[in-house]
Amino acid sequence: GAPVTVDISKLEPGQRLIEQWRGQPVWLIRRTPEQLAALSGEDARLRDPNSDNPEQQPEYAKNEYRSIKPEIAVLVGTCTHLGCSPLFRPELEPQPFDSQWKGGFYCPCHNSRFDMAGRVYEGVPAPTNLRVPPYHFEGDGRIVIG
Ligand code: FES
Repeated sequence: GAPVTVDISKLEPGQRLIEQWRGQPVWLIRRTPEQLAALSGEDARLRDPNSDNPEQQPEYAKNEYRSIKPEIAVLVGTCTHLGCSPLFRPELEPQPFDSQWKGGFYCPCHNSRFDMAGRVYEGVPAPTNLRVPPYHFEGDGRIVIG
């Protein structure tokens, strides 16, 4: 598949864009400072907090934010369990499925949960973090996926 170029210049904090790349949805999210802060302190609840599984992200996204620029998340929007579409649940407040919820993604098919970096929580069926596709920036306003 050809690379896909996405204009993110109008993406506001807290907003998400969905693009298609190689037949898969790719989410582009401009995370708020609060959402970035919430990524700290979750390690004990996460299965792969340090993104040690090299299948799930390029080397340049092996960091706490799982991204090149902290505020911009780029994730393949497909659950790593059986491929459902997780729901965007960015609210920093308790959810029915997790009283300690700090915001992220919730897969309704079998209750898998991921934080705002796509890191999977312990105790859910999804085995790995959401995938980060290969991407790079062209200036500040454009991302090339692939
Ligand atoms: Fe997402 Fe099963 S497909 S939890």
